[in-house]
Amino acid sequence: MTSTVITHIGELVTNDPDATDLLGAIEHAALVIEGTKVAWVGPAADAPPADEQYDAGGRAVLPGFVDSHSHLVFAGDRSQEFAARMTGTPYAAGGIRTTVAATRAATDEQLTAHVARLVAEMRRQGTTTVEIKSGYGLTVRDEARSLAVARQFTEETTFLGAHVVPEGDPGDYVDLVTGPMLDAAKEHARWIDVFCEQGAFDEDQARAILAAGAAAGLRGRLHANQLTYGPGVRLAAELGLVAVDHCTYLADEDVAALRDSGTIATLLPGVEFSTKQPYPDARRLIDAGVTVALASDCNPGSCFTSSLPLCIALAVREMGMSPAEAVHAATYVGAQALDRDDVGTLTVGSRADLMVLDAPSHVHLAYRPGVPLVAATWVGGRPVV
Ligand code: NIG
Ligand code: FE
Repeated sequence: MTSTVITHIGELVTNDPDATDLLGAIEHAALVIEGTKVAWVGPAADAPPADEQYDAGGRAVLPGFVDSHSHLVFAGDRSQEFAARMTGTPYAAGGIRTTVAATRAATDEQLTAHVARLVAEMRRQGTTTVEIKSGYGLTVRDEARSLAVARQFTEETTFLGAHVVPEGDPGDYVDLVTGPMLDAAKEHARWIDVFCEQGAFDEDQARAILAAGAAAGLRGRLHANQLTYGPGVRLAAELGLVAVDHCTYLADEDVAALRDSGTIATLLPGVEFSTKQPYPDARRLIDAGVTVALASDCNPGSCFTSSLPLCIALAVREMGMSPAEAVHAATYVGAQALDRDDVGTLTVGSRADLMVLDAPSHVHLAYRPGVPLVAATWVGGRPVV
């Protein structure tokens, strides 16, 4: 097994949960990789020898970003919808149907090539693990093939047949989602998700869909409280879901329910950037004892960015997070939101998924917004960017 030592790391973010600081940061550090895993971390002066050496030149090394929420399988373009929003047209979930039509018309090869392009874009920005949802097919065939495409890129695939009702009677559509569509989707998916919002699916429908998913062996997640106050966040807490995503409009009872259940609130600030809605209040959640993750929600409608550095900068500037909290939320907590303990850290035994920043510390991710700071991305111990 080949070993590699990364030397001269100005700041090594380990996210070691036993450290006294949030990021488990070590200055003047080194890291040794054996095969695909981290074998040693510590002060550079104490580093053991290895077969190969990589000189970080005083730059920062961080765990790769874990983007726990994206919708990469789609075709078509909705940039005109974005342009209209910027001059006052409100965001409406109905735009999803535009993407559904384009996705159904695309070939598997076109969808695969598009996801490959977006995953490559993510890697250039430091993302090493990504969750990918279906949700723009909304027929048995198109949901199953969307998930089969996603599965070529990640183990973290999510069946989102319950994105919107594409056509026809909502009750009939819920029967389709919980019946034949779930049957076709389950072999390609680890998770099941529902858009629980006015204009999409209500609480009873979400409950029924998550229950059917659980019976088929899929774990639940929810899109909730994105556009209005509603029951979704409390439902996620009641069901003990690992994460509930968006959390923009929260009543005090929602915050208390998240705190008591331990359900992670995954905030998606790229959405508020792209829809002009108010940003979610991360500070209120953290101060109440809620665990907060950050993810991109990369999708063609509400947020077409794949950039977690942008999301970190927005979370720091607009949502009351410190740079350390935001970096932790996009790495360690992102992994927790996918119930993964092999990624999101750089400690002995972690998968060697990491980024080298063209900067001396993690703070620069927020301090230098819009600057391409990721100099290299490694997955499983090898550079991919
Ligand atoms: O996460 N909220 C629902 N789904 C996506 C948006 C989908 C779209 O507009 O195409 C989201 O924001
Ligand atoms: Fe989403």
